[in-house]
Amino acid sequence: MKPTPASLRASKSSGRRLAWLTAYDYPTARVLDGCGLDLLLIGDSLGMVVLGQPDTTQVTMADMLHHTRAVARGAEKTLIAADLPAGSCATPELAVKNSRLLREAGADLVKIEGGREILPMVQAIIAEGIPVIGHLGMLPQRVVEEGGYRIKGKSDTEAERLAADAQALAESGVQALVLELVHAPLAAQITRAVPCPTIGIGSGKDCDGNILVFHDLVGLFPWFRPKFATPRADLAGEIERAVGEFAREVRGD
Ligand code: KIV
Repeated sequence: MKPTPASLRASKSSGRRLAWLTAYDYPTARVLDGCGLDLLLIGDSLGMVVLGQPDTTQVTMADMLHHTRAVARGAEKTLIAADLPAGSCATPELAVKNSRLLREAGADLVKIEGGREILPMVQAIIAEGIPVIGHLGMLPQRVVEEGGYRIKGKSDTEAERLAADAQALAESGVQALVLELVHAPLAAQITRAVPCPTIGIGSGKDCDGNILVFHDLVGLFPWFRPKFATPRADLAGEIERAVGEFAREVRGD
């Protein structure tokens, strides 16, 4: 049976560490559903690793709904969360409307990027009874205005701002907080301070859990590999090998 979204926040006190991965399609979700993960995220990273876009900023609600439906068909036992993509939650009303659509598509939770500036949206979604995951640190939806991907929270000012954002989001009732590219000592400090689990990606080893983009874990996006992600398989190489073998066999080479 599927755990409830509230079990995520409860895991903070039990000390159970959380292992999350992204998923974007039915067969992958169905395989991952049997792997004992705590959550599958239909991340807007799908813009890059599935749709071939340069970053996540062009991903639409239509994209998110399409992929969320596919993952929901494959994942029966594992919680699934879907990203609210760029521009989908400019106002509390819009945030609620789009969160409802993601829920109808099968997501158990929605994830939203940002700090205290998005609290009205987070509060409105939670008031609607829809569980929320926060996302702080490097915010891929703002990569263009921020001029690239870099570690966040090295300076005192940025660290104070992120710690206050984390506290405010946790107090608003989010089930968990993704910390992306947060300076490791700050990620550890936030993890100790907040009452919900922190899920790190490129944020050191002291978060309450970790998430990776599926393609980075299995070597299916060899053209760009984040430094923090160690591929544990070479699926791109394996596909090339199998397809090459097939083509040679068909041609009688
Ligand atoms: O879009 C995504 O896949 C994400 C994770 C990397 C946290 O937000």
